[in-house]
Amino acid sequence: MWGGRYAEGPSAIMAEINASIGFDRKMWRQDVLGSLAHARMLAQVGIISADDLSAIERGLEQIGQEIAAGKFAFDTTLEDIHLNIEARLTERIGEAGKRLHTGRSRNDQVATDVRLWVRDAMDGLAAQIEDCMRAFLGVAAEHTGTLMPGFTHLQPAQPTTLGHHMMAYVEMLSRDLSRMRDARARLNECPLGAAALCGTGFPIDRHATAAALGFDGPTRNSLDSVASRDFALEFLSVCAICATHLSRFAEELVIWTNPSFGFVKLGDGMTTGSSIMPQKRNPDAAELVRGKTGRINGALVGLLTVMKGLALTYAKDMQEDKEGVFDAAESLALCLAATAAMLRDMKPNLKRMAEAAGAGFSTATDLADWLVRELKMPFRDAHHVTGRLVAHAEAMGVDLSGLTMNEMQAVEPRIHAGVFGVLSPAASAASRTSFGGTAPANVARMVTYWQEKLA
Ligand code: ARG
Repeated sequence: MWGGRYAEGPSAIMAEINASIGFDRKMWRQDVLGSLAHARMLAQVGIISADDLSAIERGLEQIGQEIAAGKFAFDTTLEDIHLNIEARLTERIGEAGKRLHTGRSRNDQVATDVRLWVRDAMDGLAAQIEDCMRAFLGVAAEHTGTLMPGFTHLQPAQPTTLGHHMMAYVEMLSRDLSRMRDARARLNECPLGAAALCGTGFPIDRHATAAALGFDGPTRNSLDSVASRDFALEFLSVCAICATHLSRFAEELVIWTNPSFGFVKLGDGMTTGSSIMPQKRNPDAAELVRGKTGRINGALVGLLTVMKGLALTYAKDMQEDKEGVFDAAESLALCLAATAAMLRDMKPNLKRMAEAAGAGFSTATDLADWLVRELKMPFRDAHHVTGRLVAHAEAMGVDLSGLTMNEMQAVEPRIHAGVFGVLSPAASAASRTSFGGTAPANVARMVTYWQEKLA
């Protein structure tokens, strides 16, 4: 490819460290599309002839078929997908193939291919995020009134409902979705035509190639066009945040399926057994969602580290952008699919969750609030009185509603029997009617809000 200047080929180790064809072949579709758009534009502005264009179109179409059919002989000595396709084109159609690279460089070509690939990945993942939101919504709709413990520090805090808990993830995923769309909008400018780094003297029409490839327009600075990968960094950030959300739910499933909790059960199809312990039902899918989040976060940090300190413009370091991006996209797709599948499979144990919702003096806040409302006690004092009642109940081995009136009045003489109305988990959950709170009627409204938004 640069035989004019070079008398010898690369050493074996040079060829090995240099080649990206092993992984960038994944972008063959994007490369063919980019070349077609470029060739059509070249013909339109009169840089190549109509005959050359039809030869290139025919050749690229056949190459696409060869690759799709697994019949294309990828060649490591041709470094990457761009040179592999170009060389094969010239092999097939001769002279015209050699004219394709007029007014472009692999630098703008690869920047375009990666953007196109990431854009497709964003669209696929956005659809999957929506599906996962639907799966959370499905559980939430059924369980707006299903009591479960709400935790802070993984200690019983206040009663909540399974529906409210599911809806928390709907909110998180909705922001992931909106971040994905935002990132897509910023990505959607076309670097093709920036050529090596400074643009070109040929009268190319960058607006035409941008439009042909579905971009909003061409990028405005040729140096930036070939030097920047922040679109990929942003994509990886969105993936990492989304995976981090999924990994938190995965961790909860690991906890909830533990028999000591027994909040939910996953079926045969979404768990694995043990080759030695016959009783086992392991939540491997959840563990792998949690685990794969590590490599997705790693891809983000990896590319940030590749890009930091790189002087403008292109440097071969940037070839290292692809594997992390591909892997993160594929891993997140798997995590989203597995999470949706677990949600559709899981069977909540309402009895266990309701019992746990009342454990650990979870209605202590309700008692304190009652003291504030009924006895006009300042909240700090109410907190102290309630703390003494909890300590007494704990010593007696009962929960708060198990204390007698006498025991309560020994701590605060003004307490009356009305207090028992606020000590059940159900009453506690139902009382939290503030906007965004746990109350079942609230949660049902939020379910409807999202069902309509997603419809
Ligand atoms: N395979 C290269 C990459 O992925 C393509 C760009 C090569 N450009 C260059 N100047 N050698 O980055």
